[in-house]
Amino acid sequence: MRVLVIGSGGREHALCIALAEDPAVTVLSCAPGNAGTTALAPPPVADPNPDSKTEIAGEAVGAADRSDVSSPEQIAALAQRWTADLVVIGPEGPLVAGAADAVRAVGIACFGPSRAAAALEGSKTFAKQVMTAAGVPTAQAHTVTSTGELEAALDRFGAPYVVKDDGLAAGKGVVVTDDRPAATAHGRAILRAGHRVVIEDYLDGPEVSLFAVTDGTTVLALQPAQDFKRIGDGDTGPNTGGMGAYSPLPWAPAGLVTEVMASVLQPTVDELRRRGTPFAGVLYAGLALTSRGVRVVEFNARFGDPETQVVLPLLATPLGGLLLAAATGRLAEHEPLRWHSGAAVTVVIAAPGYPERPRTGQVVHGADGREVRHAGTSRDTTGQVRSVGGRVLSVVGRGTDLASARTAAYAALASVELDGGQYRTDIALAAVQGRITLPHRG
Ligand code: GLY
Repeated sequence: MRVLVIGSGGREHALCIALAEDPAVTVLSCAPGNAGTTALAPPPVADPNPDSKTEIAGEAVGAADRSDVSSPEQIAALAQRWTADLVVIGPEGPLVAGAADAVRAVGIACFGPSRAAAALEGSKTFAKQVMTAAGVPTAQAHTVTSTGELEAALDRFGAPYVVKDDGLAAGKGVVVTDDRPAATAHGRAILRAGHRVVIEDYLDGPEVSLFAVTDGTTVLALQPAQDFKRIGDGDTGPNTGGMGAYSPLPWAPAGLVTEVMASVLQPTVDELRRRGTPFAGVLYAGLALTSRGVRVVEFNARFGDPETQVVLPLLATPLGGLLLAAATGRLAEHEPLRWHSGAAVTVVIAAPGYPERPRTGQVVHGADGREVRHAGTSRDTTGQVRSVGGRVLSVVGRGTDLASARTAAYAALASVELDGGQYRTDIALAAVQGRITLPHRG
């Protein structure tokens, strides 16, 4: 099976590593990719011989041959030229733009929801409508389009204020604060950008990321993870795309996945199918375990980053077959998912100045280790790895338990050098120390 992965982050590197381990995946390519994926899954060139296996062996690909994948049409054309059997679309941008529709329209199987279904991530207002229709528990929310409405909604909802960009914002569109001027300023900035603002009830309790693979009817939940959205230790500083993650969650209540499957995942998938816009791909439920029960904080329409870096190494089921079954409506026939024992922890290294003004172009030393998942990296003409994005890379540690996985992750981090690089020192620490408590359910 020839598999083309679209994207260039740590998630896509993690997807490529897991796909390369599936014997059914004979040829693997990632576009546009990064310094890590290029070695494992070089960006495609037009393949005159579809039976050729040379790409997986690392056929030299010059920069001029790299394919542009910035529009759905370009992704579909590339998949056709490269004679892909399956396209796996990593990031939300192409999905919300309709890349999965374009790939399916040229007769190629695609793992990722249609534009209509990806609106679950592309519009928080649409997601709330779907949740209301499906009876999925979530925070009360109100969408505003003017500064007058913004102030009235902030008055009504009260502190702590939860102010969200209705559209895509790479994980940085949400501000949760007790500071009314800060809440107003964030809402006004969103309005100035021409977007709608969503004001929500604050949800107490620890957050969980739960991914489910679905073909639009059958839903298979993966193992839950937790990520760390703030830049600084102790959850301080601005929001980021995610600074680390771990899985599994030793503190999570028994039966959490079964409960979320019944109350969130299956009803949402059923509601989208009922509307004539079935969701095939990864449904990512961002959850809060509140005093009033599980609540959906947000939905995403793709694998999370960096949670993918810890969930996939623990998945024993071959990934290529699983994603193909979801892409072709055959998940009901798929075997139950199998998992490795133990735990995984990932720690992200971000560029100096991230998330506001990341400084890029710096040499990254020690980035070739097996534990490294590249994100914002590229190789220069001398073969040196350089930073080209805000989140530069992450390291993954595995262990028989969370404590040993955490130790392994920080040991791997010590081998990587990025001048001024930022990372958190407390990823998975509270869980290892047993300091995560669940609010009393009233
Ligand atoms: N880790 C958060 C996200 O992928 O959106």
